[in-house]
Amino acid sequence: MAKITEVVDMEKQGGVAVIMINNPPVNALSVGVRKGMVDGMKAAGGDDSVKAVVIACGGRTFIAGADITEFGKAPQEPGLDVAFDLIENSAKPVIAAMHGTALGGGLETAMVCHYRVSTPSAKFGQPEVNLGLIPGAGGTQRLPRIVGVQKAIDLCAGGGQIGVEEALKEGLIDEMIEGDLVAGAVAFAKKVIAEGRPLRKIRDRNEKIEAAKGKAEIFAEARKAYGKSKRGFEAPQANIDAVEAAVNQSFEDGIKKERELFMKLMTGSQSAAQRHVFFAERECAKIPDVPADTPQLPVNKVGIIGAGTMGGGIAMNCANVGIPVKIMEVNQQLLDKGLGVCRRNYENTASRGRITMDDVEKRMSLIKGTLTLDDFADVDMVIEAVYENMDLKKEIFAKLDKICKPGAILGSNTSGLNINEIASATSRPESVIGLHFFSPANVMRLLEVVRGEKTAKNVIATSMAFGRRIQKIPALVGVCQGFVGNRMLRQRGRETQKMILEGALPQQIDKVIFDFGFAMGPFAMSDLSGLDIGWKRGESKGETLRDRLCEAGRLGQKTNAGYYDYQPGSRTPIPSPLVEKMIKDYAAEKNIPQRAITDDEILEKSLYPMINEGAQILEEGIAIRPSDIDVIWIYGYNWPIYRGGPMFYADLVGLKKIYDKMLEFQAREGDIWKPSALLEKLAKEGKGFKDFRR
Ligand SMILES: NC(=O)c1ccc[n+]([C@@H]2O[C@H](COP(=O)([O-])OP(=O)(O)OC[C@H]3O[C@@H](n4cnc5c(N)ncnc54)[C@H](O)[C@@H]3O)[C@@H](O)[C@H]2O)c1
Repeated sequence: MAKITEVVDMEKQGGVAVIMINNPPVNALSVGVRKGMVDGMKAAGGDDSVKAVVIACGGRTFIAGADITEFGKAPQEPGLDVAFDLIENSAKPVIAAMHGTALGGGLETAMVCHYRVSTPSAKFGQPEVNLGLIPGAGGTQRLPRIVGVQKAIDLCAGGGQIGVEEALKEGLIDEMIEGDLVAGAVAFAKKVIAEGRPLRKIRDRNEKIEAAKGKAEIFAEARKAYGKSKRGFEAPQANIDAVEAAVNQSFEDGIKKERELFMKLMTGSQSAAQRHVFFAERECAKIPDVPADTPQLPVNKVGIIGAGTMGGGIAMNCANVGIPVKIMEVNQQLLDKGLGVCRRNYENTASRGRITMDDVEKRMSLIKGTLTLDDFADVDMVIEAVYENMDLKKEIFAKLDKICKPGAILGSNTSGLNINEIASATSRPESVIGLHFFSPANVMRLLEVVRGEKTAKNVIATSMAFGRRIQKIPALVGVCQGFVGNRMLRQRGRETQKMILEGALPQQIDKVIFDFGFAMGPFAMSDLSGLDIGWKRGESKGETLRDRLCEAGRLGQKTNAGYYDYQPGSRTPIPSPLVEKMIKDYAAEKNIPQRAITDDEILEKSLYPMINEGAQILEEGIAIRPSDIDVIWIYGYNWPIYRGGPMFYADLVGLKKIYDKMLEFQAREGDIWKPSALLEKLAKEGKGFKDFRR
């Protein structure tokens, strides 16, 4: 095997040159790989004994995409186009031999080859859209020429993958190889030579795109569908534009259009945001004083206390990955009810074809009910999810301290109570940690892992790893009221409540937040969660607007009335004239002057206090990095990914602009708008949160 570059080797097997890429972990198309392909193709071209070339990869996958660490940096020669020209225009047949995942630039490499073979388990796709991009090396032009227009749109704009069966059917691969892939690919190459098969170039094939020529409606429909399912995202639309160009323009012009669209996205804010989130998610796993090799505790059995809204969902998360769970309730009826909800959720998933009925039974068999905490003597981790009440939680933790084995992790799903105080009810505060799931717990990806003053490092490391094992995105935070997410949310809540009393309507505010990219605005959200969380009928004295709505029986969607009206059985909010009147009456009673509030002011007053609180949270060391706060908002509160999270967004707006606006509001409305010291410092230095270092 001759070395061409650090990451590419070449070897001759009979008359076939095998260019072997070895660039772990995923054989990304880094400069070394590109140079290896260029030099390898040149060497093969100049060697008369070589009759065909196979391009294959070592390790766990064929080329899985571009090297995204090179994005945004000065381009390094040779470019991918140089390698692609040599492959596509080679006078000797080139065969791609694929295993693992041939994605993005990997699939584009395969599509400039004359033939493609793969292992039975290989997967293929163009996932660039997930980073706010389109394929930039001909993918949008070649793919429709092999798999047809609709499938190409689905793959490019949807970002999904297909397997070998479909790839064979569509003609994306020519042969499936059982057994040794490289040996099979070499045998295939010899067959191509022996039979004198032509040097097929996908770029010259038009039969699969012919029928869609001039049919603007195909693309209009796709734009509409993706406009709905990927509302606000630019990249799916650009992918559709590029495929349309493949159909209606020459290959050369289509490539030009693809490049134009690619560059526009690459230099725009959405892709920057999506790439930021990609890295932020990985960064979030790193904890400066808890190294990656910190020894972990075993988590083979989990105990959950409370089978309510959260407990049931948390139990499902464990069962989904095969962890046995015991779930405890105060009586059989509530236990049956909680287990019934888990079963119904699973059955719904099965009815949509996402799991089998067999899976439902298997998962349910892992969730066992109990009515006594004594059954938790052998569990490795407890997650308490009872009512949000400090006395109750302390009573439970004191009991757990007596019952659980030494070393068991004692977790609480509290939304905001002080973990240190809960830990103080035990003789082992080092084992106590917050495990804050988000509702619905079986769906939302975020897990805020709350580190108490005395929580041990191995308990933190184990909890973070447990979070990943149950397919969540864990973010480590410190103890404070509401932790990171809810603490920031409260700021938005305060201002949006104030604004409806000053003259904005719930529907105006919700529309601004919806148009920004959230799934719903704060008032629709309140109706969904229930206005009566933390409200007690006997104690309510009509002091707040919320009190009055609850007293009037307007508890949210569950009573078909909250800030909005709802038709029975429908979740569509309908603006309520009655609520408008209640708001106006309340404001008049409290002498709150009325004024017109612009959409710009609504957005600023919704987001800037959150950003300021985020800065305060960083200053206090409650969050490790600004990007962790972004991850929390994206995966816990559906902040639109294409806006990168609140701290990324703040940098985009400019901290100076936000700071100045806060000062303007402070002068008008008082010190609630006082900028945090960190925001002030960064703004005055002309810096962003991206420059924040501890
Ligand atoms: N609902 C949310 O959106 C949400 C989100 C994140 C965190 N949380 C937190 O999760 C916890 C639970 O909230 P929830 O919404 O699931 O409440 P819930 O009222 O739906 O469920 C609580 C369950 O705990 C049970 N319970 C009460 N005392 C118990 C005891 N001594 N032993 C065993 N079971 C007992 C109750 O019977 C009830 O079924 C709270 O701390 C809450 O703040 C809730």
